[in-house]
Amino acid sequence: MSILLIGGSRRKDSLNSKVKHRIAEVADKFGISYKLLDADALDAPIYHGDFEDAEGVPESMQVLAREIQAASKVVLVSPEYNSSVSPLVKNAIDWVSRVKGDAWKDKKVLLGAASPGGLGGIRGLMHLRDILGNVQAWTAPNFAICPNANDQTIASMDENFLQGFLVQGD
Ligand SMILES: Cc1cc2nc3c(=O)[nH]c(=O)nc-3n(C[C@H](O)[C@H](O)[C@H](O)COP(=O)(O)O)c2cc1C
Repeated sequence: MSILLIGGSRRKDSLNSKVKHRIAEVADKFGISYKLLDADALDAPIYHGDFEDAEGVPESMQVLAREIQAASKVVLVSPEYNSSVSPLVKNAIDWVSRVKGDAWKDKKVLLGAASPGGLGGIRGLMHLRDILGNVQAWTAPNFAICPNANDQTIASMDENFLQGFLVQGD
């Protein structure tokens, strides 16, 4: 089983996606196995009960639930919008919670964020941690955060810290 690395932004030049790749780079260096998931994998209509009754859970969310189930842990690197969780990420959590099999239950989830701002998105991660607790995931105590994020600051995220981040829950 390997770690599933998910970025929470579909933006072409996403800083959060770049942090995800920095984490993957460190995983490579320390021989930690992982699978990268493109943020497009989180694409689904906004949850709506009538939609679910008529069409069921979107195929994309069923696939995502299976990926989560198959992973030893999930790393979720998510942007912060207005001090909270991005709608893309929240919607994916909600949909996956509707798939039979409780993919989130007892799943180890490690959280990261990047922002051009000085707080790096930590306020969003506090909310994300609460939400994941409610779907019975285990969230790791240490976050991988890149404040003042740009290509340089992301590339210089400390590899020893990130290695320690990745082994949480082992
Ligand atoms: C609607 C909106 C709200 C935002 N709110 C915050 C915020 O509360 N805190 C923060 O640090 N950055 C905030 N930002 C800036 C994002 O951190 C920035 O756009 C970041 O690049 C988004 O992540 P991405 O690069 O992975 O797409 C916000 C951006 C948008 C579009």
